[in-house]
Amino acid sequence: MPILEFHQISKDFPGVRALDAVSFGIEQGTCHALIGENGAGKSTLGKILAGVYQPDGGEIRLEGRVIRPANPRDARESGIAMVHQELAFCPNLTVAENLCLGDLPRNRFGWVDRAAMRKQARRMLGEIGAAIDPGVTVSALSTGQEQLVQIAAAVGTGARVIVMDEPTSSLSGGETRELFRLVRELKTRGITLIYISHRLEELFALCDAITVLRDGRQVMTQSIADTTPGQIIQQMIGRDLLVPVLGYLAQEPRDEVLRVENLSSPGRFKDVNFSLRAGDIIGLAGLVGAGRSEVAQAILGLDPMATGRVWVRDRELPLGSIDEALAAGIGLVPEDRKRQGLVLGLDCRHNTSMAALSRLTRAGWVQRQAERSLVQHYASRLRVKSPSLECLVSTLSGGNQQKIVLAKWLARECDILIVDEPTRGIDVGAKAEIYRLLDELAAEGKALLVISSELPELLALCRRILVLRYGRQAGEIDRADFSEAAVMELMVNG
Ligand SMILES: Nc1ncnc2c1ncn2[C@@H]1O[C@H](COP(=O)(O)OP(=O)(O)OP(=O)(O)O)[C@@H](O)[C@H]1O
Ligand SMILES: [Mg+2]
Repeated sequence: MPILEFHQISKDFPGVRALDAVSFGIEQGTCHALIGENGAGKSTLGKILAGVYQPDGGEIRLEGRVIRPANPRDARESGIAMVHQELAFCPNLTVAENLCLGDLPRNRFGWVDRAAMRKQARRMLGEIGAAIDPGVTVSALSTGQEQLVQIAAAVGTGARVIVMDEPTSSLSGGETRELFRLVRELKTRGITLIYISHRLEELFALCDAITVLRDGRQVMTQSIADTTPGQIIQQMIGRDLLVPVLGYLAQEPRDEVLRVENLSSPGRFKDVNFSLRAGDIIGLAGLVGAGRSEVAQAILGLDPMATGRVWVRDRELPLGSIDEALAAGIGLVPEDRKRQGLVLGLDCRHNTSMAALSRLTRAGWVQRQAERSLVQHYASRLRVKSPSLECLVSTLSGGNQQKIVLAKWLARECDILIVDEPTRGIDVGAKAEIYRLLDELAAEGKALLVISSELPELLALCRRILVLRYGRQAGEIDRADFSEAAVMELMVNG
């Protein structure tokens, strides 16, 4: 008998049926994959189980008994926890405070016992083998570390069922391996997992069974041994995946538009040199922490400590001025969309047009019609799934929020576009669409710098890949010499 069963679960949001009569069961101590396009309903199902949302129909059975978690605390008490895709903690509190928030240890005077709290937090982190100082504030953690703290919170409070929503999307290679080890260990302890991810290879490495959702409907539930990646993609997107043929590579790159000389920032990176031409896509590879995003931020004028020289065409840019960088036609799609890319309290239309407003303004008035059609154009190109462009960005699924960040910068039509992890959290079908779009931009004569932790992505897209290692330029590789092994070698050994 399965330990956990979903029976005919449905959920409606204004304008969307997020889940439509979803039913499946999960055996104890197994890992069940949940997969589907952006907006398919994966996070919604996880949140219903974890008590964040209540279903409009259907029921959940845990060990044969119907449960109706009314809130996350309720779910916790039934032994269910969720590791969220978005930030889940109070950023200004310490790790220990966040971990003990539900059950603060008190001394005999009734005051919070800080020493006991730190001890308890250290024990919870130790249980999953996470080397994180319980005294640091959560805002100082990397996304990967924050995810580990969420897992520690789940395991430490005795969860028997844990939902992991895209747990590896911001983890480095080492952190991912560590997480895999942890997941396997949790399984042997009899803990049951629901694992949401866009990375098929992870599902095959970790999961025992899989459910595919499409537009809120369950299209397949199967043992992982009885399926193939091709079949899953077919079920997910309703067609075979076409690998885009890159048109820009057939043309010679044009004039140099960006030149970076001896760009340095103390403690971050040193003596970075490269040049970028119109009509070209070059990649920036390196392990997490190698300084890739920091270089991008310095080019955009976001690093007051940066030294060196940056030219846009024949004009030298003063470093540290974002206004000058934007005026020169540089755009940056940031890595961390929640913190840097989106205004969550605004709707999709404003988020998309925000960066392009100067182009849309006549005599101080925003041209609403032009704004709407510009936004519409990019939203449909990227297949943003939302009931309307007037709905709040915060109600979109994770991947669709990412698409809005991309759309926002594309709408600005920058000549030089730096994209940092452009497909993080994006489903395989939309990923191919983004590659096609970046190719088109290059073919039109834009210059692109792509930062990515996914080597296959850089190998597929770029004409040249620069490799950073501990903030130093370890080397560069031309397309003719591309291989995963060659790039890895530079990333790891320089
Ligand atoms: N709080 C909410 N208010 C309104 N609509 C919502 C809300 N949460 C989710 N939705 C909608 O429900 C649908 C399913 O969203 P969900 O977040 O479950 O998708 P997902 O499969 O997790 O996608 P992704 O891979 O992009 O994370 C989407 O159309 C989304 O816009
Ligand atoms: Mg999601």
